[in-house]
Amino acid sequence: MIKRLLFLLVITLLASSASASADEDGKAILQQRCVECHDLKGPAPTTIRELWERDAPDLFYAGNKFRREWLVEWLQKPVRIRPAGVNYLRAINSTPQHQTKKNGRQYDVLWGAVLKPLRHETLTSDEANAVADALMQLKPHDDLVAGRVLDTSMSITLDQGEILIDKVYGCQSCHQIEPGYGGYTGAEIYTAGRRLQPAFMLSYIERPRNWDPKIWMPNVHVKPEDLQKIVNYLVLLSKEDFNASH
Ligand code: HEC
Ligand code: HEC
Repeated sequence: MIKRLLFLLVITLLASSASASADEDGKAILQQRCVECHDLKGPAPTTIRELWERDAPDLFYAGNKFRREWLVEWLQKPVRIRPAGVNYLRAINSTPQHQTKKNGRQYDVLWGAVLKPLRHETLTSDEANAVADALMQLKPHDDLVAGRVLDTSMSITLDQGEILIDKVYGCQSCHQIEPGYGGYTGAEIYTAGRRLQPAFMLSYIERPRNWDPKIWMPNVHVKPEDLQKIVNYLVLLSKEDFNASH
């Protein structure tokens, strides 16, 4: 009996020290291999200069933003999310005279082939899990997501969602809503539902500057019921298999 208790005690201690060290590993990796580019402390840029000097997305509120499963997957196989990079002004031309009549597009145009494939730190599965755990603990903006819940009774079809995004609110002037279709100012949004927590999307789309005071996403005054529809649509859209058709 005593032996058995001791055995259990040892197992418990081992298990807790193992998880503590995975946690430490994640934090150590962040400090050693990520902090050079990513802000892990905050606050977000408060001046235009700081905004354009930012070379990588802020990660200090990662726990309020990302879906853990996506982090683990992406960190092992990073691919571009912002089609014109983080400093999109360096890569796009959005002045009206350059909105080419040739292809009839009304949104941003890339300055030629300026973008190379994303080169990014790549982690092993163990490292990615440890880093994801450490990132998910960074939650300084619980206040901004408090009480935000996706109402799935407000779900809409892909067609209805596209009309909202394309026509009603014009989100595609800045965001790609499928590979190669849409603007180059923000992140691609056809994968947003896989990457981001619904509560974050609800909050960010309503007031982007609560998260990032100088960011070039305007408050487009989405009506509350449309906000729910848009986020339901983004979740649905992210389940499409774009590789199949492109
Ligand atoms: C040399 C600079 C650099 C380093 C070092 C770096 N990253 Fe990144 N990271 C970037 C850039 C640039 C992007 C934006 C890619 C895009 O949007 O296409 C990015 C994107 C990300 C994203 C997605 C963020 C978002 O908001 O979409 C995560 C998560 C991330 N990096 C984690 C890490 C981790 C963890 C490490 C360390 C193991 C790391 N990065 C090291 C430059 C860097
Ligand atoms: C004037 C350009 C512009 C318009 C219009 C715009 N956005 Fe954005 N959006 C941005 C920028 C810039 C970011 C920040 C991207 C980043 O983190 O680097 C952003 C970020 C986002 C994000 C979170 C960032 C991420 O990682 O994916 C979501 C979701 C989003 N926008 C959805 C929308 C929706 C929905 C609309 C329409 C209702 C919209 N946006 C309209 C420019 C725009």
